[in-house]
Amino acid sequence: MSKTVTITLDGRPVEAAPGEMLIAVADRAGVPIPRFCYHPKLSVAANCRMCLVEVAGARAPAPACATPVADGMEVLTRSELAREAQRGTMEFLLINHPLDCPVCDQGGECELQDLALGYGAGVSRYAEARRAVPDPDLGPLVSTDMTRCIHCTRCVRFTEEIAGEQELGAFGRGEFLKIGTYIRHAMQSELSGCVIDLCPVGALNARPSRMQARAWELESRPGLGEHDGTGSHLARHVLRGQQVRCVPRAEESLNEGWLSDRDRFSYQAAAHPDRLTQPLARHGGRWVPLDWGEALERAAAVLGRAAAPAGLIHPSATVEECFRFQELLRGCGARTVEHRLRALDFRGGAQYPRQPELGCAIRKLGKYDHVVVLGSFLRHDQPILNHRLRQAALGGTRVHAVGPCAFDWNFELAGESVLSPREWLAWLEDLGRGRLPLSRDLQAAKRSLLWLGPLALNHPDASLLHAAAQRACTTLGVRLGTLPEGANAAGAWLAGCVAHRGPGGAPMVGLNLAEALEEPPEAWVLYGLDPDCDAADPAYLGRVLERAGDVIGLQAFVPPPDRSPCSLLLPIATVGERGGHFVNLEGRWQRMAPAAPRPDGVRDGAAVLAESARMAGLAPTPDAALLERCRKSGEASAPVPFAGHSRLPPDGLLRVGAPSLYQQDAVVRRAHALQQTELARRLALRAHPATLGARGLAEAAEARLVQDGAGVVLPLQPDPRMPTDCVYVPTGDARLAALGPAFGVVELDHV
Ligand code: SF4
Ligand code: SF4
Ligand code: FES
Repeated sequence: MSKTVTITLDGRPVEAAPGEMLIAVADRAGVPIPRFCYHPKLSVAANCRMCLVEVAGARAPAPACATPVADGMEVLTRSELAREAQRGTMEFLLINHPLDCPVCDQGGECELQDLALGYGAGVSRYAEARRAVPDPDLGPLVSTDMTRCIHCTRCVRFTEEIAGEQELGAFGRGEFLKIGTYIRHAMQSELSGCVIDLCPVGALNARPSRMQARAWELESRPGLGEHDGTGSHLARHVLRGQQVRCVPRAEESLNEGWLSDRDRFSYQAAAHPDRLTQPLARHGGRWVPLDWGEALERAAAVLGRAAAPAGLIHPSATVEECFRFQELLRGCGARTVEHRLRALDFRGGAQYPRQPELGCAIRKLGKYDHVVVLGSFLRHDQPILNHRLRQAALGGTRVHAVGPCAFDWNFELAGESVLSPREWLAWLEDLGRGRLPLSRDLQAAKRSLLWLGPLALNHPDASLLHAAAQRACTTLGVRLGTLPEGANAAGAWLAGCVAHRGPGGAPMVGLNLAEALEEPPEAWVLYGLDPDCDAADPAYLGRVLERAGDVIGLQAFVPPPDRSPCSLLLPIATVGERGGHFVNLEGRWQRMAPAAPRPDGVRDGAAVLAESARMAGLAPTPDAALLERCRKSGEASAPVPFAGHSRLPPDGLLRVGAPSLYQQDAVVRRAHALQQTELARRLALRAHPATLGARGLAEAAEARLVQDGAGVVLPLQPDPRMPTDCVYVPTGDARLAALGPAFGVVELDHV
């Protein structure tokens, strides 16, 4: 059979693959065919009929999106018959359309508006009353004006086929057809905002930016996702210097044309009322404003008199920020520079590669036979990576999950092991020794991956787990990857923000964070983090910082003085205002420029660090040489597998958890609309009914979670698949700040 067929499109011969849809062939050939329901990433619905074309020999016009090409087919897209059909469809679509373009957010970027100009009549023949459709409440992210809906069902197909959640559906028939949720609730998907881009009309729009700007007033500036390691491409829409919207930029090898809600709506944090816009010093229990000159002098004085300050930086800082941070701190004698804020186990530093990596290119995930994910709820940790893995799974990749509870995956897993964190090490050892059926599957497969997620990387035995995973992967011929938190964990490693490595992975002697907390230095510098949310043990870190002589915070938001350990705050740029590089989990270096100007009084973080270095008498590395120093390699020694003893408490009820979707970092926690979602508001304790029953809580709706003398009341979520020796509580939430470490021993009490 021939590999291609030839058709005639408006008189031009065009080659196509057999069975390809006519509309795809026309798109490739640059022949415009109007459409509404067709989308290259969704299944064919062929329900709008806007793409009708004339096919020679056919009795009626045919929908180009649902007509496969055949050799010798003759197609006319602009014949009188085709245009009459297209005009007729447009007239039908407009019968009930409100045409309230002047007050419609879609105006100026509306597919219906554009096509009505080409195919609609100047005057409607329809004089009867138009139908009106009530608007379902889809939650704080997506607004609805369903009278404008043209029933293309793109949104319905998206939720089912891409988001993997049957959230939206088409109800009723004919004139009474309407789109809504199956069960009355807001959209819950982590990708729900994509329906806004897909909707060809103004029926679904971005709620946070509703009525704020007309499309033609916005300047579109390219940017990157700043909350996870995928490195999604996006565009920030700026109105008179303010970010008002964020949409995906197509990058087929990463986020395709999708975007997570976290990346889409986090821009709101830049205009948060708590935005820090001038340096502040704590004085007598309140913040006192300083000018920049005075603030930098104070910072230089602190760093000058501190014997060995310690520095903590968030893993979503850019490469430039990370490099300047460690350069300043180490130049001032710091022995602790760290970005792994939630880690509990820093042993085995020498066994880690120069930078954390996925072990594969994201676009090639579908080529893997098996992917094993240990210790990650990927939908929350890396939403777009989860989408890519879901697509791979639908294509035949077998995904196995190992975790402390049965997470709510949006695709069918090939296998799932719900195990207590106390059993993960033994599971990995069994895997490596060929004792599990999965070992044989992995060994027999051509290409497989094992990923260690944040729960494994932040486990009290993370070093042992990593060593066991490395051994298992070597034995079974599997590639090992890791999924650290933050948008630039790989860049933070390469820039030298780990105690035992400098820029480019050069080995260094330093004190890890656990050691620094045991014998705390007098001065600390915190960069871009909320210490009460972004640490493995916020209560312990808080006590250490309270006792420290000086704590300098370079951050974007003002905390209440009684909740901040900082003595000096320096305001720095945040989401969408920063320029610099991120290294994604594939190891891909990507550059972004600032999309929006910083508010007056706010400075670029990397520039503040360089200026502070100069004031401390150091000579900062020239900008031109900075990236080269991070990229330069060869100095890190070959990985040395770690051997040691378990540090997990052997008895007692174990608390386990990772940050939930909208508690990942300081920016997301200030994104108003994201914080209004049910996912952000809901904070519950998940436990086996037997665990609850043993404590007399079988019928209770709430319990007090007690750890290290502190208690927090939480709603209970009984889960019969949980192990009985642990409870799952998501972290990253200020409501838990008084508790002890994640993975610590806890008790449950009656309220
Ligand atoms: Fe106008 Fe398009 Fe809005 Fe309809 S959806 S009111 S055509 S801008
Ligand atoms: Fe299509 Fe928009 Fe209606 Fe959904 S809401 S069916 S995307 S027009
Ligand atoms: Fe072909 Fe809608 S695009 S029927």
